[in-house]
Amino acid sequence: MYRVAVIPGDGIGPEVIDGAVRVLKAVTGRIRFEYYEGGVDVFKECGSPIREEDLEEIRRSDAVLFGATTTPFDFPGYRSLILTLRKELDLYANLRIIPDLRGGREIVIVRENSEGLYSGIGAVVNGRAVDVRLITREGAERIARFAVEQAKARGSFITFVHKANVLIGDKFFRRIVLEVAEEEGVEVRDAIIDSFTIKLVRTPWEHGVILSENLFGDILSDLATVHAGSIGIVPSGNYGDGIALFEPVHGSAPDIAGKGIANPIGAILSGAMLLDYLGLDGSLIRAAVRGYVRDGELTPDMGGRARTDDVVRGVIGEIENILSMDEVWRDEIRVSRLESDISRMAG
Ligand code: IPM
Ligand code: MN
Repeated sequence: MYRVAVIPGDGIGPEVIDGAVRVLKAVTGRIRFEYYEGGVDVFKECGSPIREEDLEEIRRSDAVLFGATTTPFDFPGYRSLILTLRKELDLYANLRIIPDLRGGREIVIVRENSEGLYSGIGAVVNGRAVDVRLITREGAERIARFAVEQAKARGSFITFVHKANVLIGDKFFRRIVLEVAEEEGVEVRDAIIDSFTIKLVRTPWEHGVILSENLFGDILSDLATVHAGSIGIVPSGNYGDGIALFEPVHGSAPDIAGKGIANPIGAILSGAMLLDYLGLDGSLIRAAVRGYVRDGELTPDMGGRARTDDVVRGVIGEIENILSMDEVWRDEIRVSRLESDISRMAG
């Protein structure tokens, strides 16, 4: 059995994570889900957005499923839970996949997730505020290798997005990306961040694996979600060595929290990425989501009138449909449910 730590968070986080877990349970019995709290309320109690003993358990998990948390930017001493987890677990690669659910294309963005303008190094001294945009050789190399693997897996190339014409750090980063990619026989195309934003608006599906620094990647990936129809359907994975955390790209959306209308597809597709990471197969979930979207009612962010639960039940219905037709998947799931029954009986 795999151990998956679940951190639903707040806002719409718990609603979409509930949907994702139900879908995961419909396709595999090989996962044990263990729930943890985190966020501002935990911070008020213990001065950290996650309890130390919980963090230790989470480190020992095989993977993490994360919903969303609200990060007040004027709360003294508070650091966002997701940034804390990325740092504590050293999740250096952020992979965001923007799907075209009706056309089958995707935009793939690899965001360096541990340094750049998120280095955490900085200060306000004598009327000057400084944020250090840190690029290290080690950091650049490992993210370049990650992007190379993604490009190879897709038979594609890398578009490295930077501002090397101005920034010392990006000039350094670029040299390392070119070195690693050449070694591995992967093509790298250059793009300057400012003019690339226009390309990402006009010709979004043609850039292979887009690789960029932390803040550039953050902004590019939000921009790119426009092409998915809604940020609510975009999944992501944060990868480290030996552990990874999966989360929908959307935030906690407090304005619609508790109304039961949040789009669960981003969380569900994050669950599919989690399955791939565990070496199980996420493609059944992806096929079910595509099947549902073809003529199922969608949530209001996509112009529909469905509720979260309608979409979750619809996707599970598609899973059952596919299973009734596909013997290979059916056998696979039968075995995994059997294993889960045995392990439950074993206590
Ligand atoms: C994201 C978010 C976070 C980030 C915030 C919540 C700190 O915008 O995951 O993209 O800036 O990385
Ligand atoms: Mn962001």
